[in-house]
Amino acid sequence: MTRPYYIAGNWKMHKTRSEAAELAKSLVVQLKGGKHTYLVAPGFTCLETVGAIVKGSNILLGAQNMASEEQGAHTGEVSVLQLKDLGVQAVILGHSERRHTYKEDDELINKKVKLALRHGLEVILCIGELLSEREAGQAENVCETQTVKGLAGVSVSDLERVTLAYEPVWAIGTGKTATPEDADAIHAYVRGVIAKLYGKDAAEKIIIQYGGSVKAENAAQLMAKENIDGALVGGASLKADTFVPIALFG
Ligand code: PGA
Repeated sequence: MTRPYYIAGNWKMHKTRSEAAELAKSLVVQLKGGKHTYLVAPGFTCLETVGAIVKGSNILLGAQNMASEEQGAHTGEVSVLQLKDLGVQAVILGHSERRHTYKEDDELINKKVKLALRHGLEVILCIGELLSEREAGQAENVCETQTVKGLAGVSVSDLERVTLAYEPVWAIGTGKTATPEDADAIHAYVRGVIAKLYGKDAAEKIIIQYGGSVKAENAAQLMAKENIDGALVGGASLKADTFVPIALFG
């Protein structure tokens, strides 16, 4: 089956509102008519500004994280209700920076995944191994565990609103990219994990993005692979000049 390509920009902790607005305006113009699915995930403080600009365009509005509780005494957290209030349509969960710098574990991420889905959001669930885990031959195992635990309790119908993003931690922001062959092998393995959990149809349908130093120079080769259905782009998503060629590939 042919799956649609889904290309997302994770702006991380970059950009003030005026900088974010400038980038969003330029993307709306340049991605108009683009044939893939697009998303931008600005920082929380820029969501409202960017949301107003991408509204009615072919670019979805995403958040980079979300609290695991719906509301309450959680100083410094941002709730699913607040995100929805701003028009957010999707949320990136389990990003390696959340897992490793902020010590989020699979149980916490799973709670967030279920909460987001319960409130009608789409989810991009990130998985990926550390360099030490890859070198120890554990890449598949790590990705399997993160997938199984991250999706625990998610129904097959809710899975339709889940995208996976395979992001080997050693390739994020480092300029090192997995080879298209290595990345595709993990994507195929993870698709097999989804088949075991949800059946063949769901596995055929699920979109698995690749992330980790994706740029215009390597994007087309990565996405040409059978099991790579798009990209989650960090550094190269911060400028229209570097994101648009990735987004308009093919
Ligand atoms: P990068 O980030 O493209 O800068 O490597 C990817 C990500 O963290 O999603």
